[in-house]
Amino acid sequence: MFDSVVNLRPLERDDLELVALWRRSSDASLAFLSPDPITVSGQGSWYEAYLKDKTDMMFVLCDADGHGVGTIALVDIDYRNQKAEFGRLLVADSVNRGKGFATAASLQLLEFARSQLHLSKIYLYVIGSNARAVKLYEKLGFHIEGCFDRDVFAQGGWLDVLRMSIFLDSSWERRSR
Ligand SMILES: CC(C)(COP(=O)(O)OP(=O)(O)OC[C@H]1O[C@@H](n2cnc3c(N)ncnc32)[C@H](O)[C@@H]1OP(=O)(O)O)[C@@H](O)C(=O)NCCC(=O)NCCS
Repeated sequence: MFDSVVNLRPLERDDLELVALWRRSSDASLAFLSPDPITVSGQGSWYEAYLKDKTDMMFVLCDADGHGVGTIALVDIDYRNQKAEFGRLLVADSVNRGKGFATAASLQLLEFARSQLHLSKIYLYVIGSNARAVKLYEKLGFHIEGCFDRDVFAQGGWLDVLRMSIFLDSSWERRSR
């Protein structure tokens, strides 16, 4: 259905060290607004809880050679209301950006959410000034539901946070083919 510029595989314990390194990079910590530096030991306890949590599914983006290039996740999966939050999207190394990894991974995750989890709405939060990410989400078909004005203090000032969403209905299916 989609070109296979990237494959998604479930996050494994062995990935934690690399993911912690990726998440500590400056633009990732700014994009995710991590309050504390992500440490390997912190990741270990997070992973134990993650394994028991059926509402959180995290994946590693792998290139054609099987090398991990980033992450993506569905969190707060709410089966009753058929919705989930889209998050933790990161293409870690700047040399890998602009190659379509995030687009391909997002399309695969949305299709997985629709066809395997039977979700009908996916939403996300993004800092309004993160132009690359906002552009990507608009290209995928997400629309802005609302803006939380001056919602977080980071980068030396108050930042707006956008909530965006997409409905995985027949119009999305047509677009994704
Ligand atoms: C946002 C991010 C995931 C995009 O990853 P990517 O693999 O480079 O994205 P793609 O190559 O699939 O590009 C997808 C779209 O993003 C937008 N984009 C990518 N690079 C861009 C740039 N430098 N300027 C503006 N838009 C850009 C474009 O719309 C592009 O689509 P197009 O090439 O058809 O125009 C990546 O930049 C990243 O990891 N950033 C840091 C973490 C982050 O901000 N995550 C999102 C948190 S909400």
